[in-house]
Amino acid sequence: MLNEFLENKMSEIKNAGLLRRLRLISSNPGAHIIIDGKEYINFSSNNYLDLAGNREINEEAARAVQKYGAGSVSSRLVGGTFRVHEELETALADFKNKPAALVFPSGYQANVGVISALVSKNDNACIIMDKLNHASLWDGAKLSGARIFVYEHCDMSSFESVLKRARGYNFKLAVTESVFSMDGDLTPLKDFAQLCVKYGAVSMVDEAHSAGVFGKEGRGLAWALGVEDKIDIIIGTLSKAFAAQGGFACSSKKLIDFLINKSRAFIYTTALSPAICGTALKSLEIVKKSGDKRRHLSVMSERLKNELNEAGFNTSNSRSQIVPIITGSIENTQKAAEFLYKNGIYAPAIKFPTVPEGSARIRISLTAGHNFADIEKLKNLTQKLRLSKSV
Ligand SMILES: Cc1ncc(COP(=O)(O)O)c(C=O)c1O
Repeated sequence: MLNEFLENKMSEIKNAGLLRRLRLISSNPGAHIIIDGKEYINFSSNNYLDLAGNREINEEAARAVQKYGAGSVSSRLVGGTFRVHEELETALADFKNKPAALVFPSGYQANVGVISALVSKNDNACIIMDKLNHASLWDGAKLSGARIFVYEHCDMSSFESVLKRARGYNFKLAVTESVFSMDGDLTPLKDFAQLCVKYGAVSMVDEAHSAGVFGKEGRGLAWALGVEDKIDIIIGTLSKAFAAQGGFACSSKKLIDFLINKSRAFIYTTALSPAICGTALKSLEIVKKSGDKRRHLSVMSERLKNELNEAGFNTSNSRSQIVPIITGSIENTQKAAEFLYKNGIYAPAIKFPTVPEGSARIRISLTAGHNFADIEKLKNLTQKLRLSKSV
């Protein structure tokens, strides 16, 4: 019964060209990786500051494991809160210029845990979402059971019309990402924050892909635009530029206390490993000092986008280290990814449902570990693809 059910479901996935499989990487996830014994330029990871495998971080991780052990073996409220959780939360709150912070075992859980705790269909509350928000934000919104309004991607006039339509709700939570994970484009956060204030909406911004990369000391896009104090809730993850693990929410002390009491994704799970907290503290220290890496990343991102655009590729509206090459159909995208892979570049095909139907793409994720020769090779190969009319 189960086998038959699974075979049918898997055939549906396969026939739609949407079968996913895991690739086994046998090196650290830096800019150059080993898969099946062969070296590839890796454009797949969110290791934006090239901190995966950093010696100082590794040493700190080893010290932290020695000190605390590998796991926390309890939920935070039961017996799993260590001094190092508090230290990390204080440091993250300071990083985001907010009074308080709370860490979760992952960024996914932070988003699901914050939204579903704050919004409930019983409070005449609603959620207002950018159409292209990350799956974790959508899952939190759906779990809340509240009415969800959607506005066009990064379009502030569409956002304003939705805010007007939502006027009758007592509590409105407006949610966006600062740098979008699959398009690399930016929410105009100043306008977003102003509109939230104008229409009485609580603002929540997920800085997963901008923390470490944008703003002074990598404090994020809200900081870079001088609006971090206008955003009510800032979400981040330690799993990308920080090369560690875990998610966090920064906000007022009241909101953090509320989450400790109400967020099921926080309450009913084992605490983030204290060893990882120690590691993340070291990462945070290094992230702040990584100005040269940020500059290198920004120069390379500009260069790659310009060259791809000159060669006629659609890189959406990317203004960050995430550069999509929109290839449209699943078939084209798959072909392009396979061609790159055969030629020593690992840049995975991103398909529905991760991105909307018809907008499949190769997602290039640049890191400070890449060099100009890497992007030159990518450019030359994509040009070959273009000449062969594959994309
Ligand atoms: C925008 C965004 N938010 C949240 C997450 C989830 O973070 P984590 O990988 O730490 O669970 C991701 C990434 O996967 C993301 O792209």
